[in-house]
Amino acid sequence: MPPTRDESRPLRNEEDVVLSRQAVRGWAVEMGFSLVDQTKIVTAASELARNTVVYGGGGTLRMEALEEGGRRGLRLTFDDRGPGIADVEQALKDGFTSGNGLGLGLGGARRLVNEFSIDSAPGAGTRVTVVKWK
Ligand SMILES: Nc1ncnc2c1ncn2[C@@H]1O[C@H](COP(=O)(O)OP(=O)(O)OP(=O)(O)O)[C@@H](O)[C@H]1O
Ligand SMILES: [Mg+2]
Repeated sequence: MPPTRDESRPLRNEEDVVLSRQAVRGWAVEMGFSLVDQTKIVTAASELARNTVVYGGGGTLRMEALEEGGRRGLRLTFDDRGPGIADVEQALKDGFTSGNGLGLGLGGARRLVNEFSIDSAPGAGTRVTVVKWK
């Protein structure tokens, strides 16, 4: 089934991260997610959006409202054309950072959603896709 709603927004800077956070919150509320689930998907989105800006050099967030077999889901896709991630397993480990972070963003985001995938290769950019089902 095609998404019932599908929008993309730029992620260029910290202000865009804040705006994306608000947009994800708005969608989650409209889709009827519980307050706990709203917070989970917004927190995951915030971490992934920040990675797109900080490590990916900016990119886009695509938001899709899914409806499959009567259940609703919110799919978020973060895309950049930055340096990519050479070792995805390592990047997912809690505490690993190549910058000045805590290294908790990717692993934390993965635990907050129902589906999580990373498609990345050195030089080819990074795509992180997450789905939260209601
Ligand atoms: N979009 C991306 N492009 C390139 N590298 C990335 C991207 N996202 C994450 N990484 C790499 O994965 C590492 C781990 O990311 P993660 O979000 O878990 O931690 P962090 O951003 O370093 O710290 P924190 O999110 O806790 O502030 C990053 O340090 C970076 O090396
Ligand atoms: Mg991070």
